[in-house]
Amino acid sequence: MRRPTTRLLITFLVSLVIGYALSWLIMLLLGVELRAYGVSTLSIVAILIAMFLVIVLDGPLNLKTFEWPEPDEEEAGRDDNVRHLLLVSILIAAIGGGVAMWLNNARLLPTPASAESIPLDNLLKLHFWVIGFLFALVSVFMGYSIVVFRRKAGDTEDGVYMHGHTTLEVLWTVVPLIAVLYFGYLGATSLAEITTPKPEAMVVEVDAFQWGWNFSYPEFGDKKSPDLNLPRDRQILLKMSSRDVIHSFWVPEFRVKQDVVPGRTTQLLVTPIREGQYKVRCAEMCGLAHSSMLATVNVMPAEEFQAWAASGGVAQGDLTSAERGAQLALQCLGCHSTDGSQLVGPTWQGLFGTQEMLADGSTVTVDEAYLRNSIINPNAQIVEGFPPSVMPAGYGDILSEEEIDDIIAYIKSLAE
Ligand code: CUA
Repeated sequence: MRRPTTRLLITFLVSLVIGYALSWLIMLLLGVELRAYGVSTLSIVAILIAMFLVIVLDGPLNLKTFEWPEPDEEEAGRDDNVRHLLLVSILIAAIGGGVAMWLNNARLLPTPASAESIPLDNLLKLHFWVIGFLFALVSVFMGYSIVVFRRKAGDTEDGVYMHGHTTLEVLWTVVPLIAVLYFGYLGATSLAEITTPKPEAMVVEVDAFQWGWNFSYPEFGDKKSPDLNLPRDRQILLKMSSRDVIHSFWVPEFRVKQDVVPGRTTQLLVTPIREGQYKVRCAEMCGLAHSSMLATVNVMPAEEFQAWAASGGVAQGDLTSAERGAQLALQCLGCHSTDGSQLVGPTWQGLFGTQEMLADGSTVTVDEAYLRNSIINPNAQIVEGFPPSVMPAGYGDILSEEEIDDIIAYIKSLAE
C-alpha cells in the first residue's frame, strides 16, 4: 500500500491524462478546431475534468487519510498561514492569468472592421482579465479548501468560530468600488468616442421592412441599393426607419448595433476601416423570415465608392418591364426564391401559368389577376401548405400600379 500523499499525486496525474483525452474527444465531437481555440482551452477543460475525477475518486481510494502537517504551536500556525496564502496567491495568478489569456485568444468575435470596434474590443479584453481573476479567486479558494482542509478520518469536531475581520472587509469593499468606478469611466469615455458624429459624416438612409433592407444615399441624389456599399475610412451616419415592426441593424464585424423602430428615426455611427464583404443581420425577432433578413455590406476604397455612387446605372427608360421588376423584387427575395428552392413563401420559378391548390380546397390559375391580388391582398388566396398572415399587407400602398405590373412581368419571365 502506497502512502496517501503519493496516492493523491498519482490519482491527480492519471485524472489529468483522462481529462486531456476526454476534452480532446469532446472538441473532436463538437467539431471545434484546435488551431482556433488553442491548447489552453484543452488544458482548462482537462484540469476541470481532473479536479472532478479526484473528488469522485476520493472516497474509494481513501485519499482522506492523507494528512497535512498539523500546527501544534501558534508560531507554527502562522507559518502555515503564510504558506497557504502564498500557494493560493500563486495558483490564483496562474489560473486567473491562464483563463484571461485563453478568453482573449479564443477568437470569440469576428475580425474587427470598424473604428468603433477598437475601443469596444479593448474594453472586452480588460473585462476578461477581471473575469479571469474573479474566477480564480472563487475556484482556487474553494478547491484548495476542499482538498487541504477536508475532514480527516475520525475527526468529529466543529471548525473554529470566527467573526469579522475589519481590514479584509474594508479591502473587499474599497477595491471593487474603485474597479467599478474605473470601468464606469472607461465605459463612458468609450461610449462618447463611438457616438460623436463628425461634420464630414456621410448620411446613408436605412429602410428596414419584413424581411429585408434598402439603402439610399442622399449625398448622391436618388442613389439606392439593396446592398450597403460604404467607402473605407469615412464616418457613416445611418439614419434608420422601419415600415412595419421593430428590427435591429447589426453587423458583427462593426460591433455596434441599433434598433430600427417604426414611427421614428434612429441613428448609428460606423467608420469602416477594413475592406471586404460583411453581412447586415436583423437582431430583433421580427417574424417568420427574421433569420433571412440579411443584406451584404461592401466596404471599398473611397475612389471605388465614388465611382459606384456617381454611376447612374442604366436609365430606367431603357429597361424592359421585367428588368425593372427584377430590381423592385429584390425586397421580396427574403421569402420568395427564383430558383425553385422552398423559402417562407412559394418560389417564383415556373410559377406563372400553373394551377395552385388553395387552403380552402379550390384551385386557381396563376395569372396576372391572381398575382396582383396576392401582392395587394396577400391573405385573400393562401396557397395550400403556406401559413396565412405571413406576407405583410400594405404593398398596395408601397408600390405603384406600374411597379406591380413590373413585378408581375418579372414573375412571368421566370416561368420559362
Ligand atoms: Cu427584422 Cu428580425
